[in-house]
Amino acid sequence: MTQPTANSESSDITFNHTTPSLNSFAPRLLDWFAENGRHDLPWQQHQTDTPNPYVVWLSEVMLQQTQVTTVLPYFARFMDTFPTVQDLAAADWDLVAEHWAGLGYYARARNLHKGAKQLVEIIDETRGFPQTLSGWEAISGVGPSTAGAIMAMGLHRYGVICDGNVKRVLTRWAAIDGDITKSATTKELWALAERLTPVDDSRLFAQAMMDMGATLCTRSKPACLLCPLKDDCLAHAEGRETDYPVKAKKQPKPSKFSDALLIESLDHDMLWLQRPDNGIWGGLWSLPLQFVEKVTGKITGKSQNTANDTPLDVRSNEKVYETEFTTAEQIINEWLTENKLVAESISSTLLDDDPIKHSLTHFHWYLTPRKLTVDAAQMNELSEKLAAAEITFKWLTEQKAQDSLGLPRAMEKLIER
Ligand code: ADE
Repeated sequence: MTQPTANSESSDITFNHTTPSLNSFAPRLLDWFAENGRHDLPWQQHQTDTPNPYVVWLSEVMLQQTQVTTVLPYFARFMDTFPTVQDLAAADWDLVAEHWAGLGYYARARNLHKGAKQLVEIIDETRGFPQTLSGWEAISGVGPSTAGAIMAMGLHRYGVICDGNVKRVLTRWAAIDGDITKSATTKELWALAERLTPVDDSRLFAQAMMDMGATLCTRSKPACLLCPLKDDCLAHAEGRETDYPVKAKKQPKPSKFSDALLIESLDHDMLWLQRPDNGIWGGLWSLPLQFVEKVTGKITGKSQNTANDTPLDVRSNEKVYETEFTTAEQIINEWLTENKLVAESISSTLLDDDPIKHSLTHFHWYLTPRKLTVDAAQMNELSEKLAAAEITFKWLTEQKAQDSLGLPRAMEKLIER
């Protein structure tokens, strides 16, 4: 999507407010921000004349689906280990993954690492970070709002943001009742954000809008009495703040069930597999998984169209799961079957399975740990099979795996229990 540029004609879009209201939005917001906004977040660059776009890019990617309080320690560790984009680009993926582990949405970490390499190439060629919106949008993992935030806050140039927080503020203020997942509504919101963003103060405006969305105009209990925009907020006038933003109802997430195999040597080393780059937990390390054919809910296609909903029956289950075995897991499965080996439940309760529940974007995942102890000959045989298929694997104790591999949060939960 292309973000509108300053002063472009917003063609067919009209606004629900008068010109004086539209014009006074930014001054009211900026006055509020000066007094009540957040000025001490470690990535903020609004109080320096020499902003560091690396810091803003890194923090914006971390903040894309994650709250400030969660991001703070991760950001500090990243800046300690990778103080410059060159450090991040040159780092081994495993080290990056280890620093990201627990923050979720791992595609962001992969994009960040790839983006760092792209940025270093650009810096080597042009002697600096990209200076244009399209230059930033070309970096992996940077969408139009993140690019706008980097332009405004990381370069002190003109940039418009329209992320989830901004959409909530604007749909309320202007009583925009279109579904925000639809492109017509997105277009309307971008046009309004652009109309309201002051051309020469977009860096403060961006931060102020984020703070407003995060601290006053919150999802369920907005603090309207403290809001500088309440006098002409159309949702507030009707007492309907929490009716906005309008968003198509999400389908309930389906659940999937897997066994997580703790294949352990006599020395207590366990088998760890590096997940393929594409797919869930790409590039991170996981115990071998075995999908169990049991599912509830519905699988939906990419669009939220109900016509695409497919109730799962046994046959479609098989299809779903077949595609989800990695090559390594298939090899392990075949080896277990050939040798008539069965991993045993390690449940400490009398209830049979005692899985951990882990929620991902598209489904809940129930993971049941099952243990199998292998002798030295079995360990060698399995290792040889995996090596022959060029699988990346390691035998490590739980502690060493935790200390040296990038483990997804679900794996930590599994081995902690
Ligand atoms: N959410 C996204 N970007 C942010 C920022 N720079 N500060 C606070 N919250 C944010």
